[in-house]
Amino acid sequence: MARQAIIIDCDPGVDDALALLLALASADELDLLGISVVAGNAALAKTRYNAQRILALAGRAEVPVHAGAAGPMLVDLRTADVHGDDGVGGAALPEPAAPLASVNAVSYLCDTLAARSGKITLCCLGPLTNLGLAIGQNKDAPNLARRVVMMGGAAAGGNVTGYAEFNFFVDPHAARLVFQSGAELVMIGLDLTRQVPITPARLDQIAALGNKAGQAAHAMLTFYCRGDTAMHDPCVIAYLLAPTLFSGRKAWVDIEIDDPERIGQSVVREIPDGGKGNALVLDKIDADGFFDLLCERLARLP
Ligand code: BDR
Ligand code: CA
Repeated sequence: MARQAIIIDCDPGVDDALALLLALASADELDLLGISVVAGNAALAKTRYNAQRILALAGRAEVPVHAGAAGPMLVDLRTADVHGDDGVGGAALPEPAAPLASVNAVSYLCDTLAARSGKITLCCLGPLTNLGLAIGQNKDAPNLARRVVMMGGAAAGGNVTGYAEFNFFVDPHAARLVFQSGAELVMIGLDLTRQVPITPARLDQIAALGNKAGQAAHAMLTFYCRGDTAMHDPCVIAYLLAPTLFSGRKAWVDIEIDDPERIGQSVVREIPDGGKGNALVLDKIDADGFFDLLCERLARLP
C-alpha cells in the first residue's frame, strides 16, 4: 500500500487519543503531516494540550499541532462527560515536548490542502468546526483533500439526543457545510463504532502490552469505559490501514439544523444501486480484526 499523507483534525478525547496513537504507530503506511485541534470533548486549551501530550508519549513531538476553533460556528460549545475533566480520563501523560505551531488550524488546513491538492486524506475525529471555518475562507477547501474520512453521525439514533451523535450535535452547521461541499466523504457513524466495544478482555490485552503507550491507553480507557465503550475515532484510522475490515454503501446524508429536537441528526437517505450520493456510509466492521490491528500497532510504540 502506498504511504498516505494525512492530517488529523481532532478533540482529544480518550478515543481521539487512541486514534492518534494508532496513526503514530503506523508510520510505514501513514505520513502524518500535522494535527489540527478543535474544542469538543473538552475546551480547546485541554484538547490541544492532550494532542501535544500524546505526541510526547509516542516520541513524535516533531508532528505540528495547530490549535483551531474554541467553539462551534453558531451555537454554544457543549463538552462531553465520558472523557473526564481533562479529556483523557485523568491518565498520567508526559508533558508536551514541543510548542504549539504558530499557524491557526483553519489557515493550516486551507494552505496545506491547497499546496497538495488531491493528495491528503483529512481525518476528522471531532466537531467539524475547523473544516466548516475553512470552507468559509475557501469554499473548495474540503474538495482539495483526496477524501475526508470522519467519525460522526448515525444512520439511526444518537448518543447525545435520541437523534444526534456528539460530533454533529456539537457543530451541526459545520457538519452541514461539509456534507454540502461535494467533497469525497466517508462517514463512520455510531452504527459502526458500536460494533467495536472495549471489553474487559480487550482492556487486559492492552494492559499486557507492557509499554508506556499501552499503560496510558489502559488508564484512559478504564476511565472512558464507565460512560461509553465504543472505540469511535480509532475506526477512522483503521479504515485507512485496513479498508477490507469495513463495508458500507453510498448514500445521501444531510444534517438537520432547524428542528430543535433533531438538531445535529444525520439524515441518511438510501440511493438506488449505482447511485452517487454524497458520502460513503460505512456500517459494518470486523471487530476482532480491528482489535488485533490496534493491539499490534500499540505494541510498536515506546
Ligand atoms: C464522538 O464523540 C466524542 O465524544 C468521541 O471522541 C467521538 O469522536 C462519538 O460520538
Ligand atoms: Ca472525538
